[in-house]
Amino acid sequence: MAMAMELKFGNVLSISAIIFLCFLGSFCSANDQNLRITNAERRIDLSSHIIKVFLTLKVENKGMSPISEVIVAFTPVEVDHLALLKAVLPGGKKKKKTYTSLDINPKLPDGPNGTKYFSITLLKPLKSGEVVTLEVLYILTRSIEPFPTEISQSESQLVYYRDSAIILSPYHIEQQTTFIRTPSTKVESYTNVEPTNRAGVELKYGPYVDQPAHTFSPIIVHFENNNPFVVVDELVREIEISHWGSIQVTEHYKLAHAGARLKGSFSRVDYQSRPSVSGVASFKQLLARLPPRVYSVYYRDDIGNISSSHLRLDSKKSDLEIEPRYPLFGGWKASFIIGYRVPLEDFLYESTDGKQRYLNFSFGCPMAETVVNKLTIKVALPEGSKNPSVSAPFTLEQHLETTYSYLDVFGRTVVVLNKMNVVPEHNSPFQVYYDFKPAFMLVEPLILVSVFFLFFLACVAYLHVDISIMKYKTS
Ligand SMILES: *[C@@H]1O[C@H](CO)[C@@H](O)[C@H](O)[C@H]1NC(C)=O
Ligand SMILES: *[C@@H]1O[C@H](CO)[C@@H](O)[C@H](O)[C@H]1NC(C)=O
Repeated sequence: MAMAMELKFGNVLSISAIIFLCFLGSFCSANDQNLRITNAERRIDLSSHIIKVFLTLKVENKGMSPISEVIVAFTPVEVDHLALLKAVLPGGKKKKKTYTSLDINPKLPDGPNGTKYFSITLLKPLKSGEVVTLEVLYILTRSIEPFPTEISQSESQLVYYRDSAIILSPYHIEQQTTFIRTPSTKVESYTNVEPTNRAGVELKYGPYVDQPAHTFSPIIVHFENNNPFVVVDELVREIEISHWGSIQVTEHYKLAHAGARLKGSFSRVDYQSRPSVSGVASFKQLLARLPPRVYSVYYRDDIGNISSSHLRLDSKKSDLEIEPRYPLFGGWKASFIIGYRVPLEDFLYESTDGKQRYLNFSFGCPMAETVVNKLTIKVALPEGSKNPSVSAPFTLEQHLETTYSYLDVFGRTVVVLNKMNVVPEHNSPFQVYYDFKPAFMLVEPLILVSVFFLFFLACVAYLHVDISIMKYKTS
């Protein structure tokens, strides 16, 4: 009886706690009028097909109680195209600026019209009357749309970019300005939301004062963008660790030009005779930034080796310039493989406690200004490795596989990592830790030695048999 009573009492307590928290949550999060953005500045960089947005928010707590989170809002379409979202707290003086990165996580429930929220956790709660400045960086992919959707070989590519002149926010913004940077001065049209000004490659929306929460004012900018729209539909990077000296990297690319489609047929004569005008929206060269000290570099496709590549080595990096077999126009695709080796000691280390080894390698695609729709990284550990674990600065989908290569007896553990919507900003190091017993290094040589020994025995046996037959015959 007493137990039941206690349980019931407990339930009531927790339910009321939940209700109270919900009430507090909905009160504090989206409709929090205690928090005000006193000044906001947004810089949108449209110079490539990867859109970078820098948002600076000056936030003030106008209420009585401390506030520990600040919310940023996105439309559902933006969230689908969001490749990266970061928040930092700038500090220090002009010359010695420091940036402390802050936690930023999705927050439910959604706001009006499906607005998605992300909550930035402050290092310490913002007390009544205090002000803090936050910087947010976000990257959008597949957010500029070619229009017209088809162009001829000699035409420039025009694209649309859609956004809101007013920053979408769950807070009242006292003062704000948006700057949009276009790749060239060729801007066909743009929505005017007074005051709007254009100077050179910059479009300025604002300043706007006292905009209430959730204000949205749609704009369209129609401009020229002939930068290569390089999209890798699928990239598989295989990294094979051999404790016998090197790491073999093999990268399988399925690449496409994601810009406006080519109208009519392609004229190679026109392309080669007037290179400055013909095919301005196409690309024929790609740059892959590989680690320093690479060797045995190859570049091939289904047909065979492709000779048109140049490798430039220096102490910090290796630049591999490659040319597909044909220039790529909108909608065209190319598949190829790049392979190289790097010295083991540059990327394989012993953990500080000496118990494990780890690979420290760059994540992402080595190709400049490229979006990867689906990236798979497969790290094949040496035979006999156990307990692999991955450490990366962002969330990844991961699982394990087993593969057998030349001379493997037990098979090698392969750590498979997947990530969608990868941009160059994802090229930061990641680590794969694993246990390894050095005795396993002797397995392969032992197999070789035994194979040779058995072969030798077989030869001896064969020769003996042979000799004895010969002897039999002659005698
Ligand atoms: C392709 O290039 C690699 C490395 O340069 C070379 O080892 C291989 O023999 C070449 N293959 C063909 C078919 O030319
Ligand atoms: C991984 O390598 C990078 C340099 O490429 C270095 O800055 C970083 O400290 C390394 N991380 C670990 C855990 O060794």
